[in-house]
Amino acid sequence: MWIPTVLAVVAVLAATLVLRFVSGLKNVSYLPGFRCVFSPQSLWGVILPTVYFNPGMNWFWLWRKWVYEYYGSRTISSVSLFGGPLIFTASADVARQVLVGNSAKFYKSPETQAATRLWGENIISSNFDVYKRHRRIVGPAFSGPTYAFVAREAARLYSEMIDGENWCQQKQVRVESINEYLSKFALGIISRCGFGLPFPWVDDSENHEMSFEKALTIVTGGFIVKLAAPLWAYKFPIKRLREVDEAYNKLAVSLKSLVTARKAELASETSEPGSSGNDLFTRLVSAAEAEGKNGLDDDELIGNVFSFMFAGHETTGHTLSATLALLALYQDEQDKALKQIHEVLSDGRAPTFDDISKLDKVAACFEEAARFFPAGFILHRNATEHVVLNLSEDSNRTLVIPPGVTIVVDMVGIHHDPKLFPDPERFDPSRWYGVQDSELSFFGFGPRACIGRKFALTEGVCLLSLLLRDWKVDVNLRAGETVVQWRERVLQGGMVGLAFGVRDVPLVLTRR
Ligand code: HEM
Ligand SMILES: *[C@@H]1O[C@H](CO)[C@@H](O)[C@H](O)[C@H]1NC(C)=O
Ligand SMILES: *[C@@H]1O[C@H](CO)[C@@H](O)[C@H](O)[C@H]1NC(C)=O
Ligand SMILES: *[C@@H]1O[C@H](CO)[C@@H](O)[C@H](O)[C@H]1NC(C)=O
Ligand SMILES: *[C@@H]1O[C@H](CO)[C@@H](O)[C@H](O)[C@H]1NC(C)=O
Repeated sequence: MWIPTVLAVVAVLAATLVLRFVSGLKNVSYLPGFRCVFSPQSLWGVILPTVYFNPGMNWFWLWRKWVYEYYGSRTISSVSLFGGPLIFTASADVARQVLVGNSAKFYKSPETQAATRLWGENIISSNFDVYKRHRRIVGPAFSGPTYAFVAREAARLYSEMIDGENWCQQKQVRVESINEYLSKFALGIISRCGFGLPFPWVDDSENHEMSFEKALTIVTGGFIVKLAAPLWAYKFPIKRLREVDEAYNKLAVSLKSLVTARKAELASETSEPGSSGNDLFTRLVSAAEAEGKNGLDDDELIGNVFSFMFAGHETTGHTLSATLALLALYQDEQDKALKQIHEVLSDGRAPTFDDISKLDKVAACFEEAARFFPAGFILHRNATEHVVLNLSEDSNRTLVIPPGVTIVVDMVGIHHDPKLFPDPERFDPSRWYGVQDSELSFFGFGPRACIGRKFALTEGVCLLSLLLRDWKVDVNLRAGETVVQWRERVLQGGMVGLAFGVRDVPLVLTRR
């Protein structure tokens, strides 16, 4: 008796899936592309590895050399049995139509912004009028005094790192993963220049309570755990969950009291002019206070500083690791950068913000690494209404994006397009010589492009100038490995944390 019932249920489920699939095909106007079981953006799609029937999370990188040619278009679709239909584009022209020309008709949907919204609404996750309010208050914090502060703190943290790691005593340093150091460096800069909290390289406090740096480190590493774990899971004695939970609570309490303290300081005007007030958080609190009711409430203030950490920590750290990996392979480019560093910082001093524009060849190395491994690698948008895109670059056709279909800009694809970047697998910083900051496409396109670009460039150029001046950077080979094999092994992109980047980069640093 139950066998026919089960069969009937299965048949109905199967029919539903097939109908959904067919409707998905129609919703993407039958654009060629992936036809798969799990949507590449769904939980299962992400968890399962990238194989030919499951694009997963890493096809952007692994299939970059052939996938668009294979489907005959730089704008392709994905229709799956489980998960909504998607459009991917690796055409800079189509990306501009979405993010510049039609920017008012696209928004960032809450489901694609879950990670950034853990702490409260903020400039990255919000849309329309709410976004305008956030932007108005956050915008002015990103300007000269903050960048000057970033340059000073970068120099200070670099010395602390060299001392703290005891590299100052060594002629040669071999590391299995430079990423660890650079990620910690980027976190330190965000902690100091974003939150206004000092971040000692070596934490020698005897205190058993979790320190701010420790909490920050756990929280950044725990974003994924926090996102994926359902609330009831916290009832169980799972060590990792407990730790992440404790770190979140600790940070929330610290930040709430920090907001109160900053407001009190501003009210009594005891805060001295100078570097102490130039962190993003203090500038944000002061701008929000000035706006009164039209400003940001405490949760939004905290949401925004967290969004800077989310957007500014891993992105900059990964790009720095990629720059050193590529400079280790391309010694001639390393020499060119070094020559400029000696010219600009001839007296052996540390770079200041004023030097950044003169260190353009060093900046170009960072920029070319950011092209090779664009940390902000997928930009999601949903349409509010039917939007017609012109695919003339590929074909004489248009594509209608209906509401309910997410369009995903594939930044890896765009930045490895041989029409825009001839011989894309070659590291060639000269591609970026003379390019304005506003034209750096790996920071995004249009009104929602990266607000932290100058922050990132200042941090990156300072660290690279100091490090390359003191150390020659080389590949750290395994026994019997050739440089070509090292490149094949190490120069691979993927999700590292929540951003895209190069995995562990083994290097040898030799004192110059
Ligand atoms: C190499 C480093 C970085 C890269 C590659 C990068 C990339 C990007 C990209 C591609 C976007 C656009 C996202 C979209 O359109 O959906 C973006 C937005 C943003 N970035 Fe960055 N970013 C970097 C560093 C930073 C830093 C250091 C900060 C802050 C301190 C920051 C803060 C932001 C914010 C707040 C937004 C949202 C802007 C808005 O919606 O108006 N980024 N970033
Ligand atoms: C296709 O679009 C229609 C109309 O907007 C919608 O009802 C349907 O759910 C969509 N199909 C899929 C698979 O998303
Ligand atoms: C699409 O763009 C091309 C080139 O910019 C232009 O010649 C063509 O008229 C456009 N087509 C439509 C339908 O807008
Ligand atoms: C492109 O399409 C338009 C209208 O669909 C047509 O008038 C035109 O002749 C086509 N151009 C080419 C080069 O096929
Ligand atoms: C955005 O589009 C996706 C389909 O890719 C859909 O699942 C989701 O519900 C849409 N979001 C909103 C808020 O409409």
